[in-house]
Amino acid sequence: MEYLYCPNDNFEDYSSGRVIYSGKGLPNFPVRLLNEIYGRAKSYLEKKENIILYDPCCGGGYALTVLGMFDHLHIDRIYASDANASMVAFAKKNLELLTYSGLRKRQHEIKHLHETYGKQSHLEALMSCEKICHRLQKEITAEFFEADCTKTLPDLNPDLIITDVPYGNLVDWTEKAALTAMLEQLWKISHPQTILAVCMDKSQKTSGGRWIRLEKHTIGKRRFEILKK
Ligand SMILES: C[S@@+](CC[C@H](N)C(=O)[O-])C[C@H]1O[C@@H](n2cnc3c(N)ncnc32)[C@H](O)[C@@H]1O
Repeated sequence: MEYLYCPNDNFEDYSSGRVIYSGKGLPNFPVRLLNEIYGRAKSYLEKKENIILYDPCCGGGYALTVLGMFDHLHIDRIYASDANASMVAFAKKNLELLTYSGLRKRQHEIKHLHETYGKQSHLEALMSCEKICHRLQKEITAEFFEADCTKTLPDLNPDLIITDVPYGNLVDWTEKAALTAMLEQLWKISHPQTILAVCMDKSQKTSGGRWIRLEKHTIGKRRFEILKK
């Protein structure tokens, strides 16, 4: 796949565990690929400003936090949900990094770690935090809730949905049936122009259901599809 929306760069400021919180069992996602998927999905949106972004399997909120940091000027609101309450709490902590107070709090935490342990990694994290803070020109409002996305979801009307569904032995996700059920629920809570980007491991496939497939790509062990109503 050719990268059309995210040139190669050094994305270490956004590495999980540096400024953005990481935790045990929380999966990572390559920053460049994430931005590329988002850029491709956004290119199909009629609305380019005040985007409402939703991740129904938000995990620790890493993907949404990275996207918010990169495209905060065009994102108005973020919704994050997960079936696991502790994941939702983690996502809340990360998405607070899209506010000045959240970033200042993180800066103090890292400063304290550096003063206590004097590690080079803490100094680097502090520098990344300052850069992210400097780049943030606008805060994003985020809302969180616990929900099984294969069942009824609230009527959010998102413009763009991006999600990295469970795979491997992460959780109990009976792959094809769960994916199909999630697609149906997302269809119900979307508006006619909503664009959906679904990432999965390459053993999974969407049947699409009522969604129309615009793109599908396999990159290494990952696969993603972009769908419209
Ligand atoms: C691959 S992880 C998502 C990682 C996330 N994108 C991030 O940036 O941290 C998949 C998530 O799906 C959640 N999950 C599993 N089954 C679910 C369901 N039925 N409804 C909603 N979330 C579910 C898991 O708890 C896990 O956090």
